[in-house]
Amino acid sequence: MASSPKKAQLGSTRESFYAINSSGRSTKNQTASANISIIFSHVCLPPRDLKGELVADTEIRAFAENFDIAQGGLAKRFRLAPWHFFYSPPKFRRACAEVHRFVDNYIRERDTDSQKEGDMPSSDSFVDQLAQEASSHTMLRDQLLNILLAGRDTTACCLSWTMRLLIRHDSVMERLRKEICSVLGDEEHPTREQIRKMSYLALVIKESLRLFPPVPLNNRTATKTTILPRGGGPDGLAPILVRRGELVVYSQYVNARRKNIYGRDADKFRPERWEGHDHANPFGWAYFPFNGGPRACLGQDFALMEVSYTVVKLLQAFPVIKLPVNEKNEVIGSEKQRLTLVLSCAEGCRVELDRAIAK
Ligand code: HEM
Repeated sequence: MASSPKKAQLGSTRESFYAINSSGRSTKNQTASANISIIFSHVCLPPRDLKGELVADTEIRAFAENFDIAQGGLAKRFRLAPWHFFYSPPKFRRACAEVHRFVDNYIRERDTDSQKEGDMPSSDSFVDQLAQEASSHTMLRDQLLNILLAGRDTTACCLSWTMRLLIRHDSVMERLRKEICSVLGDEEHPTREQIRKMSYLALVIKESLRLFPPVPLNNRTATKTTILPRGGGPDGLAPILVRRGELVVYSQYVNARRKNIYGRDADKFRPERWEGHDHANPFGWAYFPFNGGPRACLGQDFALMEVSYTVVKLLQAFPVIKLPVNEKNEVIGSEKQRLTLVLSCAEGCRVELDRAIAK
């Protein structure tokens, strides 16, 4: 029998997820409520250092906190644009220094190792490949941080929004559970091929990325004077001149909720809207959570696989994942959102979980 729901923060972050992620089934049902957003933002950090060794959880957590502060500061600076240097409080500077120190340590260790082994690093690891292209220590550090910045919070946000939507839409959750069961049966570790067979899961994530794109705003500076076909005139339908050097800001969030493109239910979470189209993206440039063109996201496939795998493992490990009783089920768009460089749910994603019954 299930114990009565108790409030519990799933304590240590990575351990908690590994507990969820492991194949271990508990001997009886355990119900708990947790803010899984916090877990996701830690899970999406690499658990191993640049040499492939496990990093202590406390170290990862301190790094994650500093990374968050630094990123929050960068978002403020981003909005100040040419006056960004006015924002530089000690807390922000300290966090940036700590983030740099964390990465510097690994680069130095790698340098020492490669000196021991000879001049050229023998490994073909990601960091060694980057090091061969980077002209300085600072450039290598920037490249590594760039990948982390691009890949961590974006994926964590996508996971949080997806779970938030799932626990608020029972029929979608049910259909997804059925699909996972039909593809995996009793198997506990989904392979890439099995995940690729889960077509409804792909639509669920697609619809979540439509409503809550982790990168909701973006901009580009014109390298030459040009005319965009729309955006001018009182109704915004006339062509518009963009001079060289001018900034064009565009929003995936706004585009993906346009009723003239997605229909009257554009604000609703309905993965089925993507079904029955010949083309994977029938909405063209009204759907671009990974951007497009030459600077499109390089981690798209990886991110989609990471999100899919995590959702599958969560649903497998917990036969009941639902909205806690005292949690609001607000209309989409009226929930509190937090915008830094990414769009996250300001109140996290609280869920009530029931651990699987022992087989
Ligand atoms: C759901 C998760 C993700 C979303 C929604 C996302 C979205 C985006 C977007 C919108 C851009 C374009 C930014 C710009 O040009 O201004 C971008 C760029 C990039 N992303 Fe992702 N991303 C995700 C996950 C990842 C992951 C996991 C990685 C790597 C492990 C990654 C690596 C990159 C890189 C390297 C770029 C820069 C590409 C370039 O400038 O040429 N992303 N991403």
